[in-house]
Amino acid sequence: MTFIFGVTGKGGVGKTTFAALLIRALIEKKLGVVLAVDADPNYNLNEKLGVKIENTIGGLREDIVKAVDSLPSSMSKHDYVEYQVRMALTESENFDLLVMGRQEGPGCYCYINNILRNFVDTLSDNYDFIIIDNEAGMEHLSRRTTKAMNVLFIVSDASKIGVDTAVRIKNLSSAMELKIDNYVLIINRAPERMPAKVEDATVKQNFEEVYTLPNDDAVGTYNMEGKSLLTLPMDSKVTVEVANILSKVLEEKKGG
Ligand SMILES: Nc1ncnc2c1ncn2[C@@H]1O[C@H](COP(=O)(O)OP(=O)(O)O)[C@@H](O)[C@H]1O
Ligand SMILES: [Mg+2]
Repeated sequence: MTFIFGVTGKGGVGKTTFAALLIRALIEKKLGVVLAVDADPNYNLNEKLGVKIENTIGGLREDIVKAVDSLPSSMSKHDYVEYQVRMALTESENFDLLVMGRQEGPGCYCYINNILRNFVDTLSDNYDFIIIDNEAGMEHLSRRTTKAMNVLFIVSDASKIGVDTAVRIKNLSSAMELKIDNYVLIINRAPERMPAKVEDATVKQNFEEVYTLPNDDAVGTYNMEGKSLLTLPMDSKVTVEVANILSKVLEEKKGG
């Protein structure tokens, strides 16, 4: 079975940072084969993972549309799309990365999008863990590349407004036809003691699982220097905490 983690939240809260650290934790624990999916049109997960990318699905889509009508008869449209998706896959030592990118051009891509969606599902079977880093907001969840997720991490800052937004995201996604087993709230850059108002909001709105991540100056420094978060010291605050969060979430899974 493939375990699918989604990461969402409003802009700039630390979604990509959390996704990268989660990928690192999975690699360190050697739990299986990992696929990272960057579903943010303004993709930058590759930078935080220290990977250069050659292709995005969005970039290839244009070529696919042009080519499907002139394919050699030996190749079906379906095979061709699959071939292109494989071209967009960046393989590195510890994980593969698929960058969705942005749809270019005004054409109709419904047909291609459908094949893509199915193929990403098929491709999923080759991996034990898939981590999907999303763009800010909620709209993307309705045009997801997969239909089901085991855990959706909603990342927030430590403010009341931030947490209220996280709750709204949770409620909106519950209303959509998505199968999400578990919602987990991550309060990033949290102070040592959470303000009572925020505690209240989270407890009242009943996120079953809430974890906090501290501010870590090293994350800011690495970000400025464009360094991979996979090379943060193993004992850095956020690295340790995200590894703990992963253990707890997987433990929950086994228990339930
Ligand atoms: N725990 C943290 N400690 C310090 N800086 C952080 C932390 N989490 C995120 N940041 C910084 O916040 C900014 C936004 O993070 P990012 O992960 O790109 O957010 P998002 O993907 O939600 O837009 C980046 O400059 C990142 O380095
Ligand atoms: Mg991001």
